[in-house]
Amino acid sequence: MNINKALFDKYNLPTPRYTSYPPANYFTESTSNEQNVEAFKTSNNENPQNVSIYIHIPFCAHLCLYCGCNTKITKDKEQIKAYVDTLLKEIDLLRPVIDKNRKISQIHWGGGTPNYLPIEYIIKIMNKFYDNFDFIDSPEIAMECHPAHLTKEYTKELVNVGFNRLSLGVQDFSDKVLETVQREKAKIPIGEMIDYIRSFEGVSVNLDFIYGLPFQDEEKYIQTITKAAELSPDRLAVFSYAHVPWLKKPQKKLEQYGLPSVDKKIRLFQAAYKILTESGYTSIGLDHFAKEDDELTIALKNKKLHRNFQGYSTVKTTGQVYALGVSGISQLESAYLQNTKNIKDYIKSIEEGKFPIEKVYFLNKNEKIIRAIIESIMCNMYLSYSEIAKQFNVSVNDVFEITKVDKNDLKVFEQEGLITINDDGIELTKQGQFFMRNIAAAFDPNMKDNKKSFSKSL
Ligand SMILES: C[S@@+](CC[C@H](N)C(=O)[O-])C[C@H]1O[C@@H](n2cnc3c(N)ncnc32)[C@H](O)[C@@H]1O
Ligand code: SF4
Repeated sequence: MNINKALFDKYNLPTPRYTSYPPANYFTESTSNEQNVEAFKTSNNENPQNVSIYIHIPFCAHLCLYCGCNTKITKDKEQIKAYVDTLLKEIDLLRPVIDKNRKISQIHWGGGTPNYLPIEYIIKIMNKFYDNFDFIDSPEIAMECHPAHLTKEYTKELVNVGFNRLSLGVQDFSDKVLETVQREKAKIPIGEMIDYIRSFEGVSVNLDFIYGLPFQDEEKYIQTITKAAELSPDRLAVFSYAHVPWLKKPQKKLEQYGLPSVDKKIRLFQAAYKILTESGYTSIGLDHFAKEDDELTIALKNKKLHRNFQGYSTVKTTGQVYALGVSGISQLESAYLQNTKNIKDYIKSIEEGKFPIEKVYFLNKNEKIIRAIIESIMCNMYLSYSEIAKQFNVSVNDVFEITKVDKNDLKVFEQEGLITINDDGIELTKQGQFFMRNIAAAFDPNMKDNKKSFSKSL
C-alpha cells in the first residue's frame, strides 16, 4: 500500500493526534482539590468499571537528542528516592477515592526510563498495589524499558513481580543513527534479550522504532525493520519523529546533520509498513503493528479496540486511567486530570495531602459523543451513526448536529478513496487509514473554528 502523495500534501495539516478528546491543549487550570476528588469519586459509578493505572517515572541517565518525552537527566539518588516515596504516598491518596469493588486490569509504567529505577523501588510500588487493590484475572502489567539499563537479573525480577509485557526502545539498529542522537547502547543484544524475555511463559515483547532521524536512509532503514521482523516481537511501534525544538531545545542539535524531508519520511514509513505487513503483522491505528493472533489484532477485527494516552488496548484490559507521578493524565469517563510536570511541586502537593493536579477538563455529554465517534474512527476504522445514537440515547440526527459534520467533506473523502459511505456511517479504506486523523477531525466541531496549534501528521 503506497501513501497517495497528492493526498498527503493536501492533508498534512496541523491536526490533533486524538490520544484524548478534547486534546490536552484544551485542558484548563485546576481550581480546587475538592472538585478533583469529586471527579475521582464520580468515576466509580461510570464505565468502564476496571481501573487502569499509569505510573510516570521522569528520570533518565542520559539524554537522547531526539527525546520528546517528559524526563529529567539525573544521577541524584536522593531525588529518585524522594520521588518513589511520594509515589507510594500518592497511592495512599488515591486508594480511598476508588471504590473497593473495582479491580485493576492494567498497570503501565512509562517515562522517562522506569527501568532506570533500582528494582527494589519497582517491587515496593507493585507490592503496594497488590496489598491495597484487587486485580482481574491476568491483568496487563507493562513497562517501557531502555535496553541500556536492562539486564537479565532485572528482567527476571520484573517478571517475578508480575510484569507480562515489556516494551524495548530500540529506535534503530544502525550504530551511526544511534550515535548521532547520542543514545546509549543496549546492555544485552536485543535478540538475546527477546529470547530471554520469551523464556518466561506469558510474557510478551514490544519493540519501539522511530523514523525521521538524521542518517536514516531507505536502504539502512529496510535493514533495521527487516531485522526487527526477524526477531518477531509480539508488537512493534514505528513512530514518526516529532521534531519540536521550540519545546525540546536539544532536538535543535540534530538539525546540523540534516533531517529527512517529508517525502523521505513517507518512503521510510512505507518501507516499514510493507516489510511488517508482509511478515504477518497487522497495522493497528497510525503507527502500531501486531501479530495475527495478538489480542489487539483480534480486537480490531471485532471492532473492539480502545485507545488512551498509553496506547491501544482491548475491552478486557481497558479501564478508566488513574495516573500517578509528574505529568500523568487520569482519563476518566467524565474528566481528564493532569498532574503537575514539576517534581518539586508534585512532592509538595502530596506532602500537603492534595492531589498534585494542575490541569483539568470536564466533559459534557456532547463531548463524550464526539469522543466515542473519534475513538471508533481512530481505533476500529469505522463509524456507525445508529450505534453511537443508541449508546448515548440520542437520535441519529442529533449525532450530525453535535459533530457539525459536513456531508460534503465526507463525499470528498469518498471520492478520494479514503472512506466508503454506507446507509449508517462510514468505513475507512486501507488508504484512509493513513489519513484517520483528518477523517476524525471532520467530526470534531472544535476544528471548525480551530485556534489551537497541533503537530502535522508527519
Ligand atoms: C518513554 S520512551 C521509552 C522508554 C525509554 N525511555 C527509551 O527511550 O527506550 C517512549 C518512546 O517514545 C518514542 N519517542 C521519544 N521521543 C520521540 C519523538 N521526539 N518523536 C517520536 N517518538 C519519540 C521512542 O520511540 C520511545 O521508545
Ligand atoms: S531514554 Fe527515552 S525518555 Fe530518556 S531521553 Fe532517551 S528517549 Fe527520552
